[in-house]
Amino acid sequence: QMSDEERRFQERIDEGVRIEARDWMPEAYRKTLVRQISQHAHSEVVGMLPEGNWITRAPSLKRKAILMAKVQDEAGHGLYLYSAAETLGVGRDKLVDDLLSGKAKYSSIFNYPTLNWADIGMIGWLVDGSAIINQIPLCRCSYGPYARAMVRVCKEESFHQRQGYDLLLQMCLHGTPEQKAMVQDSINRWWWPALMMFGPSDADSTNSAQSMQWKIKLFSNDELRQKMVDQTVPQAEYLGLTIPDPDLRWNEERGHYDFGEIDWEEFWAVIKGNGPCNRERLQARVQAHENGAWFRDALDAHAQKQEGVRKVA
Ligand code: ACO
Repeated sequence: QMSDEERRFQERIDEGVRIEARDWMPEAYRKTLVRQISQHAHSEVVGMLPEGNWITRAPSLKRKAILMAKVQDEAGHGLYLYSAAETLGVGRDKLVDDLLSGKAKYSSIFNYPTLNWADIGMIGWLVDGSAIINQIPLCRCSYGPYARAMVRVCKEESFHQRQGYDLLLQMCLHGTPEQKAMVQDSINRWWWPALMMFGPSDADSTNSAQSMQWKIKLFSNDELRQKMVDQTVPQAEYLGLTIPDPDLRWNEERGHYDFGEIDWEEFWAVIKGNGPCNRERLQARVQAHENGAWFRDALDAHAQKQEGVRKVA
């Protein structure tokens, strides 16, 4: 049973009115947004780790400069998103604590290792490519601060995807047979985890119905996953790569590619903390947080001192 306030809120959403931080909102709407935006922020931050791993080993100055810029962009995305979450009345400290204690989720994809240089291109092409497909609609989601943060994030993500595809083009079309084989090995490992980024199948997606009613989500997990497959297969063909799915084929009738069943057991295992790198990723974040303690303390001390100066004056 909806209260009058809730009914009016839903009418505004249905009319396409953007909800802003000071507007009245149902507590559950606020909670859903805090959950999704903070998971998204954590994903950006943890997402720096697999790629950061290759900065010191980039094969040229140009590739190193691109990779550093890209990893820094991800840090920036995390910051915009934590700020967007803070507009909902939750403190960043609390969100970060939830990440570090293992309570909060972040994207499953970042629990896989980067084993060769082609993985850096693969993350740009498949992972950032999937992120864009998921995030373009979020630019039109009902919550203003999240939608606006997404506009800039999406622009930067498309640069990330292009650099990834460019790297792979170089290896596949102009590289040695060994380099081409490295790319094939990489797509064999990243294809399925990239499809998992879109979340559980619609039937198992507990949050979808409510989030779609509130226009936090505009498309379902399966719709976006299909879009990713349809868009990516021709790009893989251009690179001369084989997608590791024997069931993948064009379905003339549907006007879409059919594809095989995702290994959902693997998906849930990774989400529950048992993927190949979950422990390593969290440990790296905990360590970084501890290493930054002196700096946060110094900022606090400085702020207090300034406060004192102002009071005296
Ligand atoms: N990795 C980790 N957890 C996931 C994933 C995933 N790939 N997919 C779904 N989940 C979690 C959900 O967070 C939810 O858990 P919770 O209820 O405890 O929070 C549970 O699995 C069930 O899934 P859904 O009901 O489908 O959840 P939701 O409606 O939130 O949809 C989705 C999931 C599509 C990821 C959505 O949250 C979203 O669009 N988020 C914003 C984008 C984002 O976070 N991108 C991060 C990766 S991209 C990048 O950073 C480069």
